[in-house]
Amino acid sequence: MNLLDPSTALITWFNQNKRDLPWRETKDPYRIWLSEIILQQTRVNQGLPYYLNFLKKYPNLESLACASEKEVLRLWQGLGYYSRARNLLTCARAIKTRYNGKFPSTSEVLLKLPGIGPYTAAAIASFAFNEPVAAIDGNGLRVFSRYFGIRDDIRANTTINTIRALANEMISKSFPDIFNQAVMEIGATLCLPAKPECMDCPLQNRCISFANGWQNEIPYKSKVKKPRNRYFNYIIFRDRQKISLNKRKAGDIWQGLFDFYLIEENKLLDPDEFEDPFVIELLQRGYSICKTGKDYKHILSHQRIYSRFYELTLNPDPALKQISLLKRNALRFYSIEEIVNLPKPVLVDNFLKSYFKSY
Ligand code: ADE
Repeated sequence: MNLLDPSTALITWFNQNKRDLPWRETKDPYRIWLSEIILQQTRVNQGLPYYLNFLKKYPNLESLACASEKEVLRLWQGLGYYSRARNLLTCARAIKTRYNGKFPSTSEVLLKLPGIGPYTAAAIASFAFNEPVAAIDGNGLRVFSRYFGIRDDIRANTTINTIRALANEMISKSFPDIFNQAVMEIGATLCLPAKPECMDCPLQNRCISFANGWQNEIPYKSKVKKPRNRYFNYIIFRDRQKISLNKRKAGDIWQGLFDFYLIEENKLLDPDEFEDPFVIELLQRGYSICKTGKDYKHILSHQRIYSRFYELTLNPDPALKQISLLKRNALRFYSIEEIVNLPKPVLVDNFLKSYFKSY
């Protein structure tokens, strides 16, 4: 039996077992692209409402290309990996200007766009334009490495390239779209990391790992570094009903999102441990800070963020010195109504829910 000759069983199985998902009902490259960006590192159940909200607000590429980054990040809030949202916008604008608003139709050209890697380029090209190119994400790597019995580290580029080349030979030339969807569906529902449901799998009779009982050994994945611990001491400056927020810059997590004045140290600070010159100056001038709310722990893929929140209430009748200090530190103050509409990390949003009763 030839491993590279996909049985029609795969396609038949998909037609009988597929989940009904809105992006499977369309050939519109905009909708397909949007769904694929949202579904990266995200489960279908979590991504689905975001997909629907995005489509409602931005029904086509033109409307998205005209959006502001703030609006897009706000709609993305809670999905994480915010560079995806920024790239979504950059990519929409690039398609508008470079390609007159029309999606390129080959994976080769799609790959040149921001935020579109080999997987997404292949997904769009196969689903929307029937190009016979395998779309292999993390689930796909698991399915193919087991199917072909590849024991090498699936984090290594050489392994990924080998798998991609084999899958590109294997892909159905008549129904590349269904083939890719079917492999994704097998990865999500049968070929699970632990206890795969081989008995229901349409690839079972050709799968090398099934034949040899290697399901628990393949895929082999080398270990990643331990996540880094970070300690965020946040100061919330309060001026009557407004508080200060800070727009995060490039070069770190949460670029473009809003958080508070941040003092990052190698631990969470007690009130008498601040050394930040701005805070010290305010304390010397008689202001006091007090811890507010509880400490939060927020887990990201490569970092664990421990955070503590302090409130520092400013003089409601500000002296000149205070104003110049605030200006020097570029603090900007926002009302609750304004804050609701700003994009924020989930950690900050959770804190705000407990901080403002009416938030
Ligand atoms: N995960 C990533 N892309 C997907 C798709 N098109 N259908 C289902 N799950 C997916």
